[in-house]
Amino acid sequence: MNIFGYKHGELYAERVPVRRLAERYGTPLYVYSRGHFEAQYHTLHRAMAEVDPLICFSVKSNSNLSVIRTFADIGAGADIVSGGELYRLLQAGLDPSKAVFAGVGKTSEEIEFAIRENILFFTVESEAEAVRISDSARSVGATARIAFRVNPDVNPDTHLYVSTGRKETKFGLDIERSLAACERAAALPNIELAGIHMHIGSQILAPEPFAAALERVAPLCMRLRSLYSSVRYLDIGGGLGISYHSGQAPLDPARYASAVVPVLKEIGLSVVLEPGRFLVGNGGLLVCRVQYVKDNAFRKFLIIDAGMNDLIRPSLYEAHHDVLPVRHTDRTCRADLVGPICETGDFIALDRELPCSEQGDLLAIASAGAYGFTMSSNYNSRLRAAAVLVHGGRARLIRKREVFKDLVRGELRPPRARQ
Ligand code: LLP
Repeated sequence: MNIFGYKHGELYAERVPVRRLAERYGTPLYVYSRGHFEAQYHTLHRAMAEVDPLICFSVKSNSNLSVIRTFADIGAGADIVSGGELYRLLQAGLDPSKAVFAGVGKTSEEIEFAIRENILFFTVESEAEAVRISDSARSVGATARIAFRVNPDVNPDTHLYVSTGRKETKFGLDIERSLAACERAAALPNIELAGIHMHIGSQILAPEPFAAALERVAPLCMRLRSLYSSVRYLDIGGGLGISYHSGQAPLDPARYASAVVPVLKEIGLSVVLEPGRFLVGNGGLLVCRVQYVKDNAFRKFLIIDAGMNDLIRPSLYEAHHDVLPVRHTDRTCRADLVGPICETGDFIALDRELPCSEQGDLLAIASAGAYGFTMSSNYNSRLRAAAVLVHGGRARLIRKREVFKDLVRGELRPPRARQ
């Protein structure tokens, strides 16, 4: 669903002109569409209706309280990866009994916090972690539900940094060792073996790797189901890819569903999904303003007020993001779109046909709803951007722009030097 489009030569987010938002809230500014978020959730839910999945929104993709709340309001759960994300759920009013907690390095404090909040289950990445969860549950006086993360060793055909389903990665347990590990974990005090988990990677554009991974974990699921009545869930992770440029076909939810639903039905466990990017990626823009246009003998540079501290994906993964003019123009010019940070790696686009722009023009960087703000930083002591959530004809500020004071919060002033 494309929620950003042109009317009367102006870029709109739903029914709100993007220019108006930039003038009111300043730039750089994240602009999100609630309509897109909800539509993506419903599309996926409908595609998977036969197995009636619990869709746990992957909070690391966009952890703003209002975004979490949007998903909570339409029935989603959450996939979290830290105590901080659990805190965000509680602040946003998402029921923690619909939360699953992943990650290879959970601390005892995080585990105890999650047990006290009675989350649905932990996805467990090692046998040592199962022991730690058992110890924590004992000290809290509760039982913790766990789902072992199995590494099915399939190639998801995506960027190396976001590929998690190969056995060379730090994620999950080798499938060969999983049955014995589950049996040992199930015997630990204060532990309930609740299911199996897998997540093979992110931005996956074909359904086949998901189907291949499922085929590999299916026998284990069947076996565990016959051994333990407590095994109720199969969490198949997230990873559904989206389109980052025209010409790139997204993973069609209907094709995804037809690849996984038959096996899921055969396995017969309750299905959990953990999409992040699919739900929010194309529902966000990063709006910025051209500060300078600079030519040298080799290149033209459009220097904007957003940098790699605001959106690191191009620098980190060489990711492509479309760049849209806020006032429509068909004229393009070849240039680099770069930020103000003191690094050559600070770019959004390199040597690309970009909307012809002058100093002061507004540009919108597309597909910035996932892993945009959440990966932003204060590098170069830059203030992190503001964010607004648009719904129909209305827009609401959901994150204030930072001020200088935010930069030094928590830092202690050095003692005055003695003369
Ligand atoms: N579940 C687990 C256990 C995960 O590790 C992740 C993402 C997800 C679900 C959600 O994946 P998604 O549906 O969004 O693909 N920063 C990178 C992406 C890192 C993904 C990390 N794990 C990027 O900007 O592309």
